[in-house]
Amino acid sequence: MTEFRTVKSSQIILKELMIPSYSNFGGKVHGGIILSLMDKIAYTAAASHSRNYCVTASVDSVNFVNSVEVGELVTLMASVNYVGRSSMEVGIKVYSEDFKLGVNKHTNTSYFTMVAIDEDTRQPVAVPGLILEEDIEVRRFIWGKFRKQFKAEYRHKFQALHQDLDIATETGNLTGENCQIALP
Ligand SMILES: CC(C)(COP(=O)(O)OP(=O)(O)OC[C@H]1O[C@@H](n2cnc3c(N)ncnc32)[C@H](O)[C@@H]1OP(=O)(O)O)[C@@H](O)C(=O)NCCC(=O)NCCS
Repeated sequence: MTEFRTVKSSQIILKELMIPSYSNFGGKVHGGIILSLMDKIAYTAAASHSRNYCVTASVDSVNFVNSVEVGELVTLMASVNYVGRSSMEVGIKVYSEDFKLGVNKHTNTSYFTMVAIDEDTRQPVAVPGLILEEDIEVRRFIWGKFRKQFKAEYRHKFQALHQDLDIATETGNLTGENCQIALP
């Protein structure tokens, strides 16, 4: 595919009021509610860039740096940072606004990898490239390229470890860990 689209053409903002049914037993908003909104906006940005059906291939670690309260307005901002052949990294920033205090706090930032899929063959399909019009877009593309590379290396190393790991030896190496071996 030789088509290219600007970053801005698929950038998106989603706002949602945190209603009481979103809360957990502690009265805060469930992390899963925020994750679901993040998946929704990641899909929208990726589908908008590729103009194709997409699936979530992976989600980077999500660290919640601030809790979200019922009654707050959550804002999610998503942007396609990087594209490969069929995959797109969508960067998502989440903020939560307390109306009474007038405070806008950063909740988390994460990266979703979405893959465009042909709905008939169910195989990954090529997506348009990105037109990078600003320095920040170039920087995000470069960081996305490295994240993709590091994640692939991690996946390969972990797969190799699965094949080679000697559980008996590793069981003996658990001294000092927070567990008790109570095998029958
Ligand atoms: C994601 C999926 C399409 C990848 O299929 P695959 O056979 O591994 O395809 P490929 O090896 O050709 O990889 C396709 C692209 O996905 C990327 N990819 C594959 N697995 C990935 C992973 N775990 N994390 C990030 N990217 C991944 C590859 O890097 C490649 O990117 P590129 O084309 O830009 O270079 C496939 O694993 C899948 O359908 N998973 C289920 C997704 C889903 O249903 N999500 C919702 C869960 S409810």
